[in-house]
Order: sequence, then structure tokens, then C-alpha cells
Amino acid sequence: MTMEQELAIQNKILKLKKTRNAVILAHNYQIGEVQDIADFVGDSLELSQQAARTTADVIVFCGVHFMAETAAILNPTRTVLLPDARSGCPMADMITVEQLKGMKAQLPKAAVVCYVNTSAAVKAESDICCTSANAVKIVKSLGDREVIFVPDQYLGQYVTAKTGKKMHLWPGYCPTHARIMPEDILKLKKEHPQAKVVVHPESRPEITALADEVMSTSGMLRYAGRPDVTEMIVGTESGLIHRLSKENPGKKFHAVSRRAICPNMKLTTLPKILWALEEMETRIIVPEDIRLKAKQVLDRMLAIV
Ligand code: 13P
Ligand code: SF4
Repeated sequence: MTMEQELAIQNKILKLKKTRNAVILAHNYQIGEVQDIADFVGDSLELSQQAARTTADVIVFCGVHFMAETAAILNPTRTVLLPDARSGCPMADMITVEQLKGMKAQLPKAAVVCYVNTSAAVKAESDICCTSANAVKIVKSLGDREVIFVPDQYLGQYVTAKTGKKMHLWPGYCPTHARIMPEDILKLKKEHPQAKVVVHPESRPEITALADEVMSTSGMLRYAGRPDVTEMIVGTESGLIHRLSKENPGKKFHAVSRRAICPNMKLTTLPKILWALEEMETRIIVPEDIRLKAKQVLDRMLAIV
């Protein structure tokens, strides 16, 4: 696409956004052009908070399916559009509601904590939701109760280490973060000895063990803003580098690996956002019985953070 074509699409999006009274929400892993046209860019927790409180008629969700679904659960009177219906999250697809029911039957006393990266149906079968930004706090809020944690085994292992709680983990994982290897970090540490190593808790334990800090994407953005942090090895999906660099001119950010790219997050483009607003597609609708149960599970989380 030429600069002129991109500008023309941007202008059309901005015009149509006004006509439709729409808001564009984008996750920190979206491509730069999409982040730049969004009204709000954030992590999963911030995006769900934005979606819950928006007064716009239409939410264009530039992220993956479970995020748009979360917006539809929290704010059912708005129209939620996902610009590319194929943008799913493979980790969210690693547990079905039947599998969760089976685990609950074996551990009837345990509280179920679902990561926000789950389907609406799995959320509806859970007690409380969490994101990477608040998982430790949410699990601690359950006191002495045993916990079933789904679907991210690595985030679960991280929370277990932080809380010392008895947790039963589902063996799901994020394929993008699982591609980050210890050698990637060790090589970069050698090349940039002053850089802080900051990694996402969806990473393998061998990776979090090498980190100076373990944080959600927005935690990383706040950390990068500290005056004492001038160089970072960024242990997460590489889309975050766009915002890190934009908000911290003069600081150095090193992508952890060329393999740490989530193909689903990259499906959203400016032409697809324009298409979504023109056609009012693809609408994300959650059946009302599931939505009501899932909303309680999300509201319990939002009341704690
Ligand atoms: P956060 O932005 O909430 O840290 O989430 C990471 C992620 O992988 C979302 O799919
Ligand atoms: Fe899912 Fe991982 Fe992609 Fe996030 S980065 S959407 S967890 S596959």
C-alpha cells in the first residue's frame, strides 16, 4: 500500500467512525497502523474496562475473538465488530466447556479461575476471571480454597510460585510465547548487558527464571517509562515494541525473538477495519444465558482490580 492509499483509508475510517458513533479499541500486539488509528490501545484488562464503560454505539475490536467476546459480554447494548473473524486465540481454544466440566467434577471443592483467554462458555462455567495483570491478586483473593486454573499452564505455574497455593492447572499454553527459548534471552543478555529482561507470564518457567521482571504488556509499558530503565529485552509478542518505542524516544528495546509474533493478532489491517465499519461485520454475539453467567465472572474480577 502506498502512503497516499494508507492516508485515504485512514480518512475514510475516521469519517465512518463518526457517522457510526464507533470507538476503536486495539490490543498492544496489533500492527503499528492499527494501534495508531485506535482510540485506545491497551492490555486485556484495560481493554475490558474500556469496553465496559464505553458509551459509543459500536466497538471495533482490533484484537482476537475472546477479547471482542468479552466486550460483548460486558456491554451487550453495543454492537461489537471483529474486523477479521478468523482472529482466534489458539490458547483459548485449548479447553472446551465439556473439558472444564469434567475437571470440576473431579475437584468439586476447588474454585475455578479462568484466564480471560477463554471462550464465553468456559467463562460461564468459572467462578472468577483474571488477566495477566491481576492473576496473582485474583488467586490470592480466594483465600485457602484450592484452585482450578485454566487454560494457561505457564501463567498458572507463575501464580503458583507467587502465591504458594494448591492449584490444578490445565495444560494449555500460548504458542507464540512458547516459541521464546532460553538461548534467545541469553544471547541478547550477552549483547546488551545493561538491558533489563522483562517477560510476559505466558512464557515458559525457564524464561521467567531468566527475567528481571515478569509483567503483563501494560506493566511493561509502565516499567519502560521509569527514568532508571533505558534499555529493555522485551520478552513478549513483538507488536509491543511499537508502543514502547513511540512512548519512550531515545530508549532501546530489543525484540526477544523473530518467532515471537502472534499470527492471529496480525490479521487486523486498516482495510479490514474500514470493511468492518462499512458492512457492520463481523458482529460478535454471545447467547444471553451464557452471557449473563460469564458477565458475573468478569464483574467479580473487575470489582477486585
Ligand atoms: P496482556 O496484554 O493482557 O498482557 O495479554 C497478553 C496476551 O497474550 C493477550 O492475548
Ligand atoms: Fe493467544 Fe498467545 Fe496470540 Fe495472545 S499472543 S492471542 S495468548 S496466541
